[in-house]
Amino acid sequence: MEVDLHVTNRCNLKCNHCVYSSGEQIMPDITLETVKKLIPSFKKMDVKEVHITGGEPLLNQEIFGIVFELQKNGFLVRIQTNGILITNETAKKLKSNGADHILISMDGLENFHNNFRNNENSYNFAVNAVKTCLKNGLFTRVNTVVSRGNVSEVKSIMQTTKDLNVHQHSFFYFTPFGRGKNIKDSMFSLGEWKQIKDKIVQDAQEMNYLNRIRIQDVFHENDVDYSNSNICREDNCLILANGEVYHCVFFANSPYSLGNIYKEDIFNIWSGCSDLVNSIISKNSDKKCDNNLCGGGCSGMAYCLSGNILSCDPRCNPKNNIISNCIRKYKN
Ligand SMILES: C[S@@+](CC[C@H](N)C(=O)[O-])C[C@H]1O[C@@H](n2cnc3c(N)ncnc32)[C@H](O)[C@@H]1O
Repeated sequence: MEVDLHVTNRCNLKCNHCVYSSGEQIMPDITLETVKKLIPSFKKMDVKEVHITGGEPLLNQEIFGIVFELQKNGFLVRIQTNGILITNETAKKLKSNGADHILISMDGLENFHNNFRNNENSYNFAVNAVKTCLKNGLFTRVNTVVSRGNVSEVKSIMQTTKDLNVHQHSFFYFTPFGRGKNIKDSMFSLGEWKQIKDKIVQDAQEMNYLNRIRIQDVFHENDVDYSNSNICREDNCLILANGEVYHCVFFANSPYSLGNIYKEDIFNIWSGCSDLVNSIISKNSDKKCDNNLCGGGCSGMAYCLSGNILSCDPRCNPKNNIISNCIRKYKN
């Protein structure tokens, strides 16, 4: 089980694509005390990994204490950051407090990244953050969201991270949610994503870099057995900084909250949410897209694209054997 924990909704950037529209809604940060209270429940839920994100998690004043407490209790701790606040001292503290993985966002070459993230220095900050984390012995991964605006730069971004000698470089599918709705045409069809994946693999192979590359899986190919349809990933939950718990990113700030950690124990929220999750899953298995080939695809994307959680994911293309998968099945 993995938890995505938003320790803040504040952000020092205002990215065009931000799926959470971070910074728009004022929420108090998650405190160290709250994290300490969550830990026994996380253990009961068999949580193995906590993915600290936001907002910009390094804006949380208690971030080092939060990292320390989580790692002390045996969780793998991953921090997702834009890198702006990574100095030598920050990186040292992250390392000494037990952060396992640092994930740094780099969405393109300098111009694209700076424009996309609305800050003319954000690219330099990200590159320096990568160098600083590596120098301090942190496992360092770059995350790139691929959209129409940067797809032509993907090979050059790979070359950049290869030159930086990162441990891993992951490519993610752009989803038009949150502020991303304003640039919804940047989303690729699943057929296009297949071609992009193939091209990344081919380029990475030529660069002798494939072993460090990961690409988000967002579709199934060929025959999929939907008789036991279980499309949603069931071992991941999302806690926003205001304490609201969701089954996945696409339901963030939607009416499909499962509960709130300030009102109820996360263990109870998660154990009690199976009704909602099962209903999504079973409704999914009743859904029939073209030719009855598809189980309805990703409910989150269906909700995000049509506003109806029980509709079919419009990106499915069963005639071409490309069927949408739960976007969260890819473990990032
Ligand atoms: C929401 S940010 C929060 C952490 C941190 N502030 C950062 O920029 O990395 C987490 C990751 O989600 C990605 N992301 C944001 N909006 C997205 C979208 N619409 N589709 C796919 N990924 C998105 C970001 O690029 C980043 O790598």
